[in-house]
Amino acid sequence: MRERAKFKSSLGMLLALVGSAIGLGNLWRFPYVVGNNGGAAFIIVYLIVVALICLPVMVAEFVIGRRARSNAYSAYDKFAPKSKWKYVGLLGVLTAIIIDSFYCVVGGWTVSYLFHSICLDVAPETPGQSAAMFSALTGSTSQNLIYMLIFLGLTCGVVMLGVQKGIERSCKYLITILAVLIVVIMINSLTLPGSSEGLRFLFKPDFSKVTFKTILYAMGQGFFSLSLGCCCVLTYASYAPHKDNLLKTTSLTVTSDVLFALIAGAAILPAVFAFGISPTEGAGLAFITLPEVFGQMAMGKVIAILFYFVLFAAAISSAISILEIIVAFVMEIFSFKRVKAVAISSILLVALGVCCAIWGTVFDLFDKISANILMTTGGFLIAVFVGWKITRKDFEDEITSSGMHKVPRWLLVTLRFLIRYVAPIGVAAVMISSLAGL
Ligand code: PHE
Repeated sequence: MRERAKFKSSLGMLLALVGSAIGLGNLWRFPYVVGNNGGAAFIIVYLIVVALICLPVMVAEFVIGRRARSNAYSAYDKFAPKSKWKYVGLLGVLTAIIIDSFYCVVGGWTVSYLFHSICLDVAPETPGQSAAMFSALTGSTSQNLIYMLIFLGLTCGVVMLGVQKGIERSCKYLITILAVLIVVIMINSLTLPGSSEGLRFLFKPDFSKVTFKTILYAMGQGFFSLSLGCCCVLTYASYAPHKDNLLKTTSLTVTSDVLFALIAGAAILPAVFAFGISPTEGAGLAFITLPEVFGQMAMGKVIAILFYFVLFAAAISSAISILEIIVAFVMEIFSFKRVKAVAISSILLVALGVCCAIWGTVFDLFDKISANILMTTGGFLIAVFVGWKITRKDFEDEITSSGMHKVPRWLLVTLRFLIRYVAPIGVAAVMISSLAGL
């Protein structure tokens, strides 16, 4: 039996998790969702939801992964042999395949824009031109395909190198550069005349906009942004040393992700407002609205390069973590070597990615069901499993690394309560209301 890979250091493990969390969810969705749902009022709701539901689910995933030390599917089998729980792991792998299929297409767009911002120009002087440029890219199957293959090829290359030499090392560099660049972009944005309007949009509290739906948005955003419910944290945790402080790693991951999202908001929205453009979300924000902003900004060409690098780095560090869920599963279930497992997984992803690139409806479907249905269902089941199937003794033993870390009693009791009751009930509420189309 081959020895199981491990992260080299606690910091490396943390940065890999942060790399997974920080992605398109932070850069192109969070700022817009915050601005449109009550600004600071939404941020307060988001923080509460993250603390009461998302963090406990992350802890739960971590407990399963690190204790079982195996891929998503086999992990459940180790705790509850011959039960149906392993299908929760399988659901995680399936979710990862679906997310990665459209994530690679978007990743391809970031490669294309990074390339164009360096070699050509993505910042048009006349409004309307950027929309035409973006539809030229998305409308061309061959271009979509080429850039997607480049992005997937790079992702596979990193995953092929393994946990320490590939994932850990690449995330260390990517996340460090990403953090520096986003701060540079934010400083530039905040010095633009008229930028305060953007900050007002982002942070001005409007409690009248907080409704039940706000809580649902906050939860959906939290799940996607923190990579929960698809066994991503579980898979990374299976490579974490037992002595690592689990609560410290998970809470630092959550804090970094929230902080990065806020900084991204302060980097993007002030610039958009400074040029009198209205904010959008998703692909429209990153590939149509922002090029227009860069076109009008002093040093816009340089800022565009920095921004598309940030977008690319955020996307690839997330894509790496999604691919690893699939690769760990293929390696351990079929006893394949890593290289072979990556090759097989990538063939599947190329096939599905092509469908997403060609048919917009497949893209939209995968995008919608992954966050709203699959990740939340996974999160619900993970919380129920850890809350009700893992004994309190095992749970506490894992959290404290067999007594190595002192965790106050009240914290252990509260965490278990959140995982047993609050998280499953909260997640069930999201699932039911999103299925009911609320
Ligand atoms: N968290 C990533 C983002 O914000 C997306 C992701 C989802 C990554 C699921 C891993 C697993 O973009």
